[in-house]
Amino acid sequence: MTVARIKRRLGPKSLVMVGLMGCGKSSVGRRLAARLDMPFLDADDEIEKAAQKTIPEIFADHGETSFRDGERRVIRRLLQNGPQVLATGGGAYMNPETRAAIRAAGIAIWLRADLPVLMRRVMKRDNRPLLKVADPEAVMRGLMEARYPIYAEADLVVESRDVPHEVIVDEIVAMLETHPSVVGPEDRGRI
Ligand code: S3P
Repeated sequence: MTVARIKRRLGPKSLVMVGLMGCGKSSVGRRLAARLDMPFLDADDEIEKAAQKTIPEIFADHGETSFRDGERRVIRRLLQNGPQVLATGGGAYMNPETRAAIRAAGIAIWLRADLPVLMRRVMKRDNRPLLKVADPEAVMRGLMEARYPIYAEADLVVESRDVPHEVIVDEIVAMLETHPSVVGPEDRGRI
């Protein structure tokens, strides 16, 4: 019932996961898509497919500027395919054009997490060029400072923490039920 109502009100809009590396955009996004019976897409995977290279290879061979350009173009294209759940890379929402495109075609969901949670998760893998430095924690702290005020523009903010992903999905679904960007005009006076 809830799911059908959320989907009806969303129409062609995408649910777009934003937030820092390690906040759970892909793992929560995939489960949210399954819950809502919608396709799930990961923008980083689509960038890799389009470039026929991994993200570390793109950074190494062409530099971050070129990666950001590809990221902006791929997300603009993917946003035409809603409804869907779309996980973006951590830097994508920082681009004003991408933010505007998301605002026009989607609902942005920020998974906010504290530094220790993020560090614990990202240190398990070795696939993030920005963190291949002597002090990845200092980089992450800098990114939090620079990005959190911008991520805060998202429609929904959910605390990502060490609980099962399904708990986070439950919270997002509950928020979607009552959020003004999802709620139809006919319901506005009633909630
Ligand atoms: C980046 C985050 C990565 C990936 C790239 C740059 C960033 O995605 O897009 O390494 O600038 O925060 P995840 O957030 O999915 O790790």
